[in-house]
Amino acid sequence: MQEIWFASSNNGKINEMKMLLNRLIGSGALELHSQAELPVFSQPPENGDSFVANARIKARALKAVKPGTWVFGEDSGLAVEGLNGLPGIHSARYAGPKAQDMENVAKLLKMMTLKPMSNRNAAFVSVIVAFDPQGQEHVFEGRLEGEISKNARGAQGFGYDPVFVPPGETKTLAELGLAFKNKVSHRAKATAPFIELLEKSLSV
Ligand code: IMP
Repeated sequence: MQEIWFASSNNGKINEMKMLLNRLIGSGALELHSQAELPVFSQPPENGDSFVANARIKARALKAVKPGTWVFGEDSGLAVEGLNGLPGIHSARYAGPKAQDMENVAKLLKMMTLKPMSNRNAAFVSVIVAFDPQGQEHVFEGRLEGEISKNARGAQGFGYDPVFVPPGETKTLAELGLAFKNKVSHRAKATAPFIELLEKSLSV
């Protein structure tokens, strides 16, 4: 049984990673933990200028307290074409430093009404930075293109899921649900090659 530590306290992300790593966890090869289990762990400031820099900051901080095992950080966000890529790396705090998901969604919808915007193209981006037990770094990236809906719909998922419509769909990710999301999402795409590496490393 190999421990793997996820540098996140975002329950939405942790649930998704649990489902994505389900085969390895279910087979008993891998045991997923998160920093939420470490009451004394203090979250480092996410002051990088890119998804990869921020994912690395998170992973490194956790690696410092969990050396010699697998650790990984994930940084993600929503890049809206008509807003020049915003909220991007600022997605979690778009409406302010302590913003809740629905406040961020409300700000996004408001920003998109400020100029008449026919272009509602957007993409979710996820970058995973993992350190293996020997301390070697591995980087993975995934993207999901889509469109921003006119209003928030659906109750599943987290973050901007209620306003994100994947290609070929009319429903938002929050309406389509987690099983659907985990087949197509940016996080699923970044996780797929990571799983391959873990399988190799664990010989399963
Ligand atoms: P992070 O924890 O700094 O990576 O913040 C990521 C933020 O981007 C989240 O708080 C959400 O606002 C947004 N985000 C990232 N991935 C997703 C997703 O899968 N669905 C909806 N929003 C997401």
